[in-house]
Amino acid sequence: MCIDAFGRIFIMKDIYVLGIETSCDETSAAVVKNGRCVISNVISSQIDIHKKFGGVVPEIAARKHLEIISQVIDQAIFDANMKLNDIDVICVTCGPGLVGALLVGVSYAKTLAFCLNKPLVGVNHIAGHICANYLENNFEPPFICSVISGGHTNLIYVSNYDSFEVLSRTRDDAAGEAFDKVARVLGLSYPGGPAIDNLARFGDPMAIKFPKALENDLDFSFSGLKSHVINFVNKNKITDELKADIAASFEHCVAEVIVKKTFIACEMKHCKKIALAGGVSSNSYLRHMFEQECKIKNYTLNIPKSIFCTDNAAMIASSAYFKYILGYTSNLYLNAYPNLKLCEEKNEIIN
Ligand code: KG4
Ligand code: ZN
Repeated sequence: MCIDAFGRIFIMKDIYVLGIETSCDETSAAVVKNGRCVISNVISSQIDIHKKFGGVVPEIAARKHLEIISQVIDQAIFDANMKLNDIDVICVTCGPGLVGALLVGVSYAKTLAFCLNKPLVGVNHIAGHICANYLENNFEPPFICSVISGGHTNLIYVSNYDSFEVLSRTRDDAAGEAFDKVARVLGLSYPGGPAIDNLARFGDPMAIKFPKALENDLDFSFSGLKSHVINFVNKNKITDELKADIAASFEHCVAEVIVKKTFIACEMKHCKKIALAGGVSSNSYLRHMFEQECKIKNYTLNIPKSIFCTDNAAMIASSAYFKYILGYTSNLYLNAYPNLKLCEEKNEIIN
């Protein structure tokens, strides 16, 4: 007898989902049991290749995925101590992301599903980031999710496992994009987020007062802040000490805006549960600020482990599990959708 994620009691066999993620510069495959238990999670990062270009080169990313995807999937199955045939469902990120990169994962997943005669589930990458909150714990909706990644900055009301309401978005740059660009102007290595995170520990977050845009709106804007930091760097003699202060002050400015707007979204939805998602949510200063504020205000906070914040296939497998048990599968016309929106269903069969 089992209690499923919705609190229903019934007898069921465990469901093992093989997840595949190739939307950007990480080739990842994972096996996840019942949407929460990570059996294996293999991530092959291309960071060292893209580093010398200062950012992800889409054509190179696609070629590198193609070179390594078989090995990564074989390793995930091996680490899980399983055979491909033991897998119940095959799932893959079908968007949003880089079209060439996505196509590698989608084509591989469709081929596997066809050859093994297993159900296929196409997963939205952002839904995957949100579902990272279900991995290795019992966290449940409803909650407000602050999705902060390299391509997205959104506040999302997650009322149920498959119900997402986008409350706010960025009007220009995503938070991660701002981290990467500010890091570049400070001469730090790519990806900029972790480099700023490390350097900021030596700086004073209150040293420089950078401007905050859209203060009276739930939407975000980071391009003005980014330009301000770039101008500041160009106008001043940058010592190591000042560099650390710039990193800390920039980080403080981003974190303060995100935390403040997340609490406003919670008040709007009468919801006292917050979850974080996306690469930037592994930022130590931001995590600390959320932890402190939630403690003061008596809110529940869930932050995925750092390894599940940045791109990984375990979060994709979790999202697919919840779609699958609700009756959604994809057909073999599934394609790569670079601009896929949350809740935009593509080639889905509802059973
Ligand atoms: O979610 P993610 O892995 O990929 C996307 O879907 O975009 O996010 C990548 C972004 C990059 O911009 C990277 O600089 C940022 O997450 N990031 C961080 C940290 N770790 C990764 N930003 C701030 N602090 C970090 N510790
Ligand atoms: Zn991502």
